[in-house]
Amino acid sequence: MLHRFHRHALFEPLLFLFIVFQVCSGLYFVWKRRGQRHGFLEKAQAASGLYLAFFLLNHAGAVLFGRHIAGLDTNIYYCIAGFYAHPCYFFFVPYYFLAVTAIFVHLASEFHWLARNQIADARRTSMAYGICAMGLVLSVVLLPGFYGIFGEIVIPAEYLETFGGR
Ligand code: HEM
Repeated sequence: MLHRFHRHALFEPLLFLFIVFQVCSGLYFVWKRRGQRHGFLEKAQAASGLYLAFFLLNHAGAVLFGRHIAGLDTNIYYCIAGFYAHPCYFFFVPYYFLAVTAIFVHLASEFHWLARNQIADARRTSMAYGICAMGLVLSVVLLPGFYGIFGEIVIPAEYLETFGGR
C-alpha cells in the first residue's frame, strides 16, 4: 500500500532529496560537535547517525537501482535475497542488524536529550537504554525471520540472480 505512494513519480525524487538532506545535515552535526560528546549515549548518537547515513544512501540507492536499472519489483524478496546468497550474507546480516539497532540507539539518544528537563537523569538514562535494548531484541528476532524461521520463504530466482545465485 505504502509503496504505491513512495514509488510515485513525483514523490520518489522528493523522498530521495529528503534522504540526501537528512544525511548531509546529520554529517554536518557530527562534524560540528566533534570532540564535545561525553558519555555513552552522546557518542552512540554520533556513531549510529554515521551508520544510518551510510545505510540510508546504500539502501535507497540499491532500491532505486533494482527498480529503475535492473527492472525488478523492489519488494521484500529483493531486499533479503542477499541473505540466501553465499558469500553475500557475510555483508547483509550485520548490515541489517546494525541498521535496525542504529535506529533505536539514535532515537534513544535523541529521547535522552529532549527529555532532559522533564525526566530525572537516572530514570531518563535507564529509559534510553531500554529503547536501545528493544532495538537489539528486534534485530535478533528479525534476522532469523528473514531466514524463514517463522514461515518458509522462497526467494524467486530473478532476485537470487542479482547476487549471481540461482
Ligand atoms: C530491516 C531491514 C529492512 C528491510 C528488509 C527493508 C526493505 C525495504 C524494501 C523492500 C524497500 C522497497 C520498497 C518498495 O520499493 O516499495 C525499502 C525501501 C526503503 N527503505 Fe527499507 N528495509 C529495511 C530497513 C530499513 C531501515 C532501517 C531504513 C531507514 C534507516 C529503511 C529505509 C528505507 C527507505 C527510505 C526506502 C525507500 C527507498 C526508495 O524507494 O527509493 N529501510 N526497504
